[in-house]
Amino acid sequence: MARYVLAIDQGTTSSRALLVDADYRISGIAQHEFKQHFPNSGWVEHDPEEIWETSLAAARTAVANAGGGRNIVGIGISNQRETTVIWERATGRAIYNAIVWQDRRTADQCEALSVAGHGETVRERTGLVLDPYFSATKIAWILDHVAGARQRAENGELAFGTIDSFLLWRLTGGRQHATDITNASRTALLDIRTGKWSDELLAIFNVPRALLPEVKDNACDFGSTDPEIFGGPIRIGGMAGDQQAATIGQACFKPGMLKSTYGTGCFAVLNTGATCIASRNRLLSTVAYQLDGVRTYALEGSIFIAGAAVQWLRDGLKIIAHASDSGPMAAAADANQDVTLVPAFVGLGAPYWDPDCRGALFGLTRNTGPNELARAALQSVCLQTYDLLQAMRGDCPEVSGAVLRADGGMAACNWTMQRLADILDIPVDRPTALETTALGAAYLAGLQAGFYPAPEEFATRWALDRRFEPQMEAPERQRIIARWHDAVRRTLSNGG
Ligand code: G3P
Repeated sequence: MARYVLAIDQGTTSSRALLVDADYRISGIAQHEFKQHFPNSGWVEHDPEEIWETSLAAARTAVANAGGGRNIVGIGISNQRETTVIWERATGRAIYNAIVWQDRRTADQCEALSVAGHGETVRERTGLVLDPYFSATKIAWILDHVAGARQRAENGELAFGTIDSFLLWRLTGGRQHATDITNASRTALLDIRTGKWSDELLAIFNVPRALLPEVKDNACDFGSTDPEIFGGPIRIGGMAGDQQAATIGQACFKPGMLKSTYGTGCFAVLNTGATCIASRNRLLSTVAYQLDGVRTYALEGSIFIAGAAVQWLRDGLKIIAHASDSGPMAAAADANQDVTLVPAFVGLGAPYWDPDCRGALFGLTRNTGPNELARAALQSVCLQTYDLLQAMRGDCPEVSGAVLRADGGMAACNWTMQRLADILDIPVDRPTALETTALGAAYLAGLQAGFYPAPEEFATRWALDRRFEPQMEAPERQRIIARWHDAVRRTLSNGG
């Protein structure tokens, strides 16, 4: 009977489970979408019970597909990062909905912390910027808005976790309160140079230490599942935030290697090796992974809206029936129209970090139709990636000759990948395995279980599906980019 690693990939819109065999082949996929809650403008919440139930259902299906838990050598978890859950240690019940990474409700708190002069300390210690994106202000918000929560947190009755930690707690029947260093590095409470929670940051964000999980390597012993869940215990050997898991799945193990994942948002991650580079261009410094206590750092550019722009075409505007319709429509768009979308639906992330601005469309004419809007949406993802790459080039000049490894749902669209290569003016490589996030999580657990070899050997298995070479003439590229920057300037809340 074949043996597998079970990867649980808990994302922003769905919970998935996949089986990965000894040859890195993926099978047995189960997936459940769950509800997005928007209780106020700019607020985004998930029900933690739904996150748990959908993850559990997907995992149980995958385990059944494997022929039972005895055929699973280990579990690897990857997850939407920053999303914040606080639960009761006694019951495992969350005291409030999960506040999602996209949620902007703490913009004023971030502004107040910035005015109080904490921006530089936060940047130096965490590699992050003061933005509602990260967990720390979300934790404080819950403690300040749920009656009695702050006192209960001080008393040690409550636990905080990002989704990895919450799932680990539930999977182990409440025996493990741990996180991995990549997820911890997104809370704004971890000093990424020491790899430890920082008392200085806990004081700045007013978060009690008693809430926090233990921080661990990405491949290590995270405990075993409660035997009742899968009919016998299974070891959990790997955890990583989804973007770091994708970096591993894309085998970006060497400094200078760059991947970009196009899911709900887009996250470009550049491996910077043992050096934690402080960005001068408003990118994030973050932990790429930590294996055997050895930390590898990355520069990250985070864009909040990528695939979500295609969802908007489908569910908001209703001008496409399926996401895959958008590429052919973009290809058929009128070349004489210059429609530009700035998809600031939840503000703008890197490198602008403007939580208050909202999306805008420029260049509409009476001839503008669905095709032009589809092209504007897909092109906006390429242009946002361009801004990230420019910031990376500024921080790390050696990245200029880089190749971008792209993955995620939008990477399946040839038009988008070609436009990306054209706008970035570097080759874009699409791997055969597009499930890089799950593959990365599975690899970590398989490494821990001795099922998979060391990273160097794993990297030799990365396979190219197609390389997209830049084809656009420079004047056309420059014209599109100039128009984009003009549109962004007019969209920013402070007028650029
Ligand atoms: O930082 C947020 C990110 O981890 C979410 O990723 O794939 O759920 O959009 P995704």
